[in-house]
Amino acid sequence: MPVEARLSIRNLSVSFGSHRALDGLDLDIQPGHIVGLLGANGSGKSTTVKALSGLNPVEPGATITLAGKSFGGADLDPVESRRRGIRVVHQEAPLVPDLTVAEAMAIHLGFPTTSGFIRWKALRQRSLARLAEFDIAIDPDRLCRSLSAAERALVSLAIALGDISVERAVLILDEATASLSTADASRFLAKVRDAADRGLAVLMVTHRLPEVRQHCDEVVVLRDGVSVATFTRETFDEIDVVHAMVGPTASQEHEASHEPTSSAGNALTVTALSGAGIDEVSFTVRSGEVLGITGRSGGGASELLRLLGGIDVPTDGLLELNGEPIVVRGPREAIGAGIFYISADRLTEGGVATMTVAENLVLPRIERYGLGRTRAAEDVARMMTALDVRPPDATVPFGSLSGGNQQKVLLARWLLLEPRVLLLDDPTVGVDPNTREVMFRTLRSLADAGTTVLLRSSEPEQLARLCDRVLVVRDGRIVNELTAGTITTEEISLATYA
Ligand SMILES: Nc1ncnc2c1ncn2[C@@H]1O[C@H](COP(=O)(O)OP(=O)(O)OP(=O)(O)O)[C@@H](O)[C@H]1O
Ligand SMILES: [Mg+2]
Repeated sequence: MPVEARLSIRNLSVSFGSHRALDGLDLDIQPGHIVGLLGANGSGKSTTVKALSGLNPVEPGATITLAGKSFGGADLDPVESRRRGIRVVHQEAPLVPDLTVAEAMAIHLGFPTTSGFIRWKALRQRSLARLAEFDIAIDPDRLCRSLSAAERALVSLAIALGDISVERAVLILDEATASLSTADASRFLAKVRDAADRGLAVLMVTHRLPEVRQHCDEVVVLRDGVSVATFTRETFDEIDVVHAMVGPTASQEHEASHEPTSSAGNALTVTALSGAGIDEVSFTVRSGEVLGITGRSGGGASELLRLLGGIDVPTDGLLELNGEPIVVRGPREAIGAGIFYISADRLTEGGVATMTVAENLVLPRIERYGLGRTRAAEDVARMMTALDVRPPDATVPFGSLSGGNQQKVLLARWLLLEPRVLLLDDPTVGVDPNTREVMFRTLRSLADAGTTVLLRSSEPEQLARLCDRVLVVRDGRIVNELTAGTITTEEISLATYA
């Protein structure tokens, strides 16, 4: 007897103005199944998630059946969506830093009270029980600010499912693992799999294909708001999936074009550098080298990039660029010296949502363009094409772009400044597999033209693909160096997590 789907979606459409971001989507999720929702940046994944959470206006004509009950898609609002059993965990789980885990959970799930007074002991007990249901060992008295990204994701999972039986719920993950290391993501998804084994239905948005192979029972691929292909565990094939995402027309190469940087050397020498999380680190990067930095989170890899980029201030040490000593005590000084730092955290350190894409692209060198409007327009057009920004319209607000397209614009912005040294902290978070390739090619040719690139990634495969050499950082020091021949995904994973 066929099992009844936990969630059935028929003819779901969402438009923004004249643009149809989602066009007649049909999708089913069986209880116990994890369905991957894949697609290029801007293909409509988050639009689907927001429609199901009641945050996007759904066009008339959509029917949703959830746990046996049917209703019109246009009837959903955030309260109704929750009431019917839809729960979402987003990429950057926002937990109020100054609250304890128990308090953060209670904000969403309610405080136990007697005549208006909060029963703190009961609150703690209840939080413990909810965390235990998902086998999460986190002390509910800890402050949220002390949680790692992996722990925040786990607490968000317990919050999402804390007031509903897994046998009634649909859990949606919108890139919930994007900022986690491969190992942490795997641990998180193992908990999700346990809940699915107990009857949960899961829709999972991700750009990480290995994760899909490992955890998804079925895969739906969106292209331009339309479901274009589905795969099962048996038929799943990474190349076929990427082809489905990109479509037949887009197979032309997006040649990454940029002006060669100055032919002067850009070798970076770091001597006894110390500062937040970094303890007397010394190394040299050759001009044009792509140097990978890896290590467990909090171990110093990100911290090292932040010090070099002037985001944190070094307490000691010497930096030399092409043999010339340089002083970096803030981002301005770093940029002045030609050293640019880009983090994956586009929301706090990134673009201006209300300004257009074009304005965001030329923002850092607006004074350099002066009256050279034509020059600016040319640069904008060139970068939009090189990184395949969608929609290819630089006059739309930056904030209306999908997450991955925002990330492309920010990378393009820095490339326009012709960096001597580029410091990248996990630059492909939220970027689809095809665009990752474009970014990698761009970085490689930038390096070939003389830019020195330092790259941290939470995905060992990326470092293996791109780096000439990889440094392993632990407890604020360099503990290992992988050179040509030993730079494989396995070696990097071992060196990072062993
Ligand atoms: N509020 C909005 N106003 C206008 N257009 C929007 C809005 N939200 C999304 N869009 C457009 O809808 C399309 C789909 O966006 P969506 O965020 O669903 O993409 P996505 O598949 O989640 O991409 P990503 O992988 O980059 O997160 C894009 O073209 C985007 O620019
Ligand atoms: Mg999205």
